[in-house]
Amino acid sequence: MSIDSRFVKNHINIDGTVYSVLPNNFKDLEHSFEIKKQYEKLNQQAMSGFKRVGQCIDTPLRSEHMHVLKAHLDPKLCQMLIEEYDKNSQTVHDNSVLQVLLPQVFNQALDEQLISYFNSEYCVFWWSIYKVSEHVTDDVYFTKWHCDAGPRKHLKVIVYLNGHEEHGSDTGYLKKTETDQLKEVGYIFNDINDRVVDISELCQHFNISFEPQ
Ligand SMILES: [Fe+2]
Repeated sequence: MSIDSRFVKNHINIDGTVYSVLPNNFKDLEHSFEIKKQYEKLNQQAMSGFKRVGQCIDTPLRSEHMHVLKAHLDPKLCQMLIEEYDKNSQTVHDNSVLQVLLPQVFNQALDEQLISYFNSEYCVFWWSIYKVSEHVTDDVYFTKWHCDAGPRKHLKVIVYLNGHEEHGSDTGYLKKTETDQLKEVGYIFNDINDRVVDISELCQHFNISFEPQ
């Protein structure tokens, strides 16, 4: 019998706080998505069949891997969605809502960003609507530092329906270099239960610049 060292948690004690990490788990995830689930092949096919190269733009999204589009949705639509959510948080997830939302969210401004980032067409895997204020004080896993696992080429589109002063969400992003360092350390893609709210100490310990944007 052998124990696969890739799935053994490492425990790092920093001034009495214990962080549990899974070094190398990112390599397994990458292999799982790119090879086993064949996203690498799909990506190659999508890129070779791409016909809209002429519509691609030079966007900071390509180098920064994040970008902000301001006033993206019609404020009236945002207000309507908020009201619908408050009435019934389940029915707002209906396909009929998605049919209205898709063309408005994936409008020309976002579409040109996405094709320029991927150098191919793209598809939407999943979507959801959350009321952030219900979760910011909760001790739930997705309010803690994490990186969503997925194919090498995927992007998360987050649309805020109202202003920061109302929802109080303070989503912070780390740059790719620091994210990659945290993958090596094994914090990123660790056990979902081992996520923490503040990773500044952990980053300091490993000499990783912690400057969320
Ligand atoms: Fe996430």
